[in-house]
Amino acid sequence: MTTPLIAPSLLSADFGHLARDVERMNASACDWLHLDVMDGVFVPNISFGFPVMEAMARSARKPLDVHLMIVEPEKFVKQVRALGARVMNVHYEACTHLHRVVQQIKDEGMMAGVTLNPHTPVSLLEEIAADLDVVMLMSVNPGFGGQRFIEHTLDKTRRLRRLLDATGSRALIEIDGGVNRQTAPLLTEAGADVLVAGSAVFGAADPAAEVEVLKTLCTR
Ligand code: DX5
Ligand code: ZN
Repeated sequence: MTTPLIAPSLLSADFGHLARDVERMNASACDWLHLDVMDGVFVPNISFGFPVMEAMARSARKPLDVHLMIVEPEKFVKQVRALGARVMNVHYEACTHLHRVVQQIKDEGMMAGVTLNPHTPVSLLEEIAADLDVVMLMSVNPGFGGQRFIEHTLDKTRRLRRLLDATGSRALIEIDGGVNRQTAPLLTEAGADVLVAGSAVFGAADPAAEVEVLKTLCTR
């Protein structure tokens, strides 16, 4: 029996009660906590930065999955490490020297994740797939929570699974955007290992219970 990891995104939490929402996730069955950093340059929105993440990290009892939607993410590898993050996800589109960034992340003892925007083909990862710990597919255009899932991601997930198998990569497939009760089982079926869910979890009356619902729906 396999169940995907669930990584609730704090982007949809109540920023006036962040510690409370982190505690709720600590008490839930979730696997990672997903932190969305936006710089207003790589994406058309600004979320939160290191001082806020440090506060979240102090309360968090789950591994942190830091998703950097910023230009020049290589400048922040050590700061992400200092948070105690388990995963550092950088965008393919933001890294000219992706191989170097991936090595820097691994040298700091974190799992190296590379994220693809909806228009970026999985085939561009062919030469680096074997070095990666996580490949994250954006199933919405990054920048905002609560957007509609891009259906094409299901086929893209299947193609990514084939590419990882063909290149001998053991990377986990993570999906970010529009994950909910309807899309989560389809993504799991297509080969996803980790599902990020923001509005589906924090928009629910009982966020911790929603994590359980998503897990149950995806268990196969
Ligand atoms: C979008 C972020 C996502 C976002 C997902 O740019 O990377 O992690 O929080 O939100 P939902 O699950 O609401 O689509
Ligand atoms: Zn994200």
